[in-house]
Amino acid sequence: MSEPRLPLYDDLPTEPGEIFERILDHERRGQDLVRLYHQLREVAPVYHSEVERVGRPWILTRYEDITLAAREKGLVKDERLVDQLGGRADSPYKQLLKRMMAFIPPPRHTRLRALVNRAFTLRSVESLRPGVRALVHGLLDEREAAGGMELVADYAFRIPMATICELLGVPLDAVPEIRRWAGDVTRRSDESLEVDPDLERLGDEAVLGFSDFFRELIASRRRQPRDDLISDLVAVQREASDLADEDIIATALLLFQAGHDTTANMIGKGALALARNPGEFQKLRERPELIANAAEELLRFDTPVQLSVNFALEDVPCRGETIRKGDAVFLLRGAANRDPARFLDPDRLDLERREIEHHSFGLGAHFCLGASLARLEIQEGILALAERLPGLRVEIEEPVYKPQLHLHGLEALPVSW
Ligand code: HEM
Repeated sequence: MSEPRLPLYDDLPTEPGEIFERILDHERRGQDLVRLYHQLREVAPVYHSEVERVGRPWILTRYEDITLAAREKGLVKDERLVDQLGGRADSPYKQLLKRMMAFIPPPRHTRLRALVNRAFTLRSVESLRPGVRALVHGLLDEREAAGGMELVADYAFRIPMATICELLGVPLDAVPEIRRWAGDVTRRSDESLEVDPDLERLGDEAVLGFSDFFRELIASRRRQPRDDLISDLVAVQREASDLADEDIIATALLLFQAGHDTTANMIGKGALALARNPGEFQKLRERPELIANAAEELLRFDTPVQLSVNFALEDVPCRGETIRKGDAVFLLRGAANRDPARFLDPDRLDLERREIEHHSFGLGAHFCLGASLARLEIQEGILALAERLPGLRVEIEEPVYKPQLHLHGLEALPVSW
């Protein structure tokens, strides 16, 4: 059977290099990201780019190729991902990032993840559900009478920060400071910004402040454990001499980095997708039991982490091409999630779609550690909007996306009801 193909778009370039440049460039991709993915997948599904500033990577856009790449032992994530972020090699920012499991290959990755995983069970995540439900309804209580809000700042971003703090056991009065440090580290890691000494300083100061805070929290939980993730990790540490305090601090920062913007962006983009598809939104209101499937479809439809980068440890064959040892490979998750060879009518939002299995949380060794927590927050955040704000309308013609492609989200979403 031949694979379903899409016609080429006349108004978009057909030269793969030009398409890829446009995908990378916030201004030029505008509202065309998905159409650019379709175009690149059609003309060059396995494409070796010439773009020097992103390391001349291979670009994969097919669902099947990204599945194979994620399972390929010869493709790994390592500290080159941190080095790519520019600036001094020995900065406190980079030193801490290099302890994060997201940038470490096996066997250390396997070991670190197993240690942390023991404290990150579905049970402890599910126990957060009543708190998340109360939180989202509390946020809507605050806003409901006003008849409108800026959904990204007033709602979406306030959900994951409070949840991760609760999970880790960060006291409420420290939340503003943590929010500032986490925000500064995200800014330092923004691939669309030029790294200058001010940005470097911002990242270093944030990492040092965050580390001091968590060093004290770890010491306090060691003296007096509580029912939180830091206490669990301190308990794990007693039997694991290779889990240093610095590894716990790096893990805590990783949870903020990986779990904050991603989830908030998804709630914002999910609300937009539903407001633009009123029939589907209505369906969710009538059948709230659809929410688990709806969350998966929203994750597929407008992917929060658009790309991941791997490196070849050895020569890796890929559809008749050879990815050479040392080459970088970009997995374009948003393209995989709209591949017509895998998803029927991929550009349609269908909350009842079967067998979604999107690529939004990755696959293989680095599969998102926080996937069950993210799912819980998206389900609660979106369902509350459907239940409480049936007349939700978006107040702008064209939504504005942030420049970053990696962590893809809306700048703002003014809504009314
Ligand atoms: C919608 C929300 C989220 C999305 C789309 C998302 C997506 C991802 C993706 C694509 C990866 C890399 C997978 C790979 O390369 O194979 C990842 C890794 C990770 N995520 Fe998430 N994530 C989300 C929320 C969260 C949350 C809430 C947390 C925790 C609080 C979290 C913690 C992590 C961690 C620790 C890793 C690194 C795992 C490893 O390297 O082994 N994520 N996530």
